[in-house]
Amino acid sequence: MEIVIMENAQQVAHRASDVIELYVRRGATLGLATGSTPLETYKELIRRHHATDLSFAECRAFLLDEYVGLPQGHPQGYRETIRREFTRHIDISDDQVHGPDASAEDVRAAALTYERQLLAAGGVDIQILGLGTDGHIGFNEPGSSLVSRTRLKTLHPQTVQDNARFFESPQQVPRHVLTQGLGTIVDAGHLLLLATGPTKSAALAALSEGPLSAACPASVLQWHPHVTVISDEPAAAEMKLRHYHRAVLAQKPPRQPH
Ligand code: F6R
Repeated sequence: MEIVIMENAQQVAHRASDVIELYVRRGATLGLATGSTPLETYKELIRRHHATDLSFAECRAFLLDEYVGLPQGHPQGYRETIRREFTRHIDISDDQVHGPDASAEDVRAAALTYERQLLAAGGVDIQILGLGTDGHIGFNEPGSSLVSRTRLKTLHPQTVQDNARFFESPQQVPRHVLTQGLGTIVDAGHLLLLATGPTKSAALAALSEGPLSAACPASVLQWHPHVTVISDEPAAAEMKLRHYHRAVLAQKPPRQPH
């Protein structure tokens, strides 16, 4: 696991975009997260698309998760959010952006269909991840099986509270989601986790320095051969190894890949 500590969220977005750009130029399959953390990165990628020859036309994208119970087209639905914040500003067609169908009557069947779609696409090449304050990735809350696949999950009250800022009141936050499982997420070739702000510091320390445990679902990243974590200084504050990570970055051999 490579842990890159940048001074601020702007630099995190820039560095993350450098990594993602390499994949976009190969027409890769991108795994997209919603939430607020990757928004700056999406903005930077949109900027590069307009300012350079960076094209997403050969890419396709898969979302990590979707709320259950929101009407189709609801502005806080993740399909809609990713369109508004990212994909409608770049040259990727809507039919190349996939998400789990959380409006289906039979969510188990919808979850299986999504797994099959991922498989048929040859899997995700680079998966962008945010980090929940309780250590979740996707919406795999503490206690999630480390080998879980796409399925219905109930949000932790902490996550409901964290996400209430996107809704008019906490009562409006859906309690259920369809989310890729931890086993689904780690099938991606490269995991790129972004963490910014002091509220992520405990979860980031647990994921990188704590035990591999369902108590911190993001710790499953320790078991993956190609992980890049990019954090800002406040999010890095509780990692005991942060000084080592800074030294590694300062001496990174020019030819060592991301
Ligand atoms: C969203 C997702 C979640 C978020 C996490 C952090 O698709 O999968 O795991 O990445 O809840 O959210 P923010 O970035 O809003 O702090």
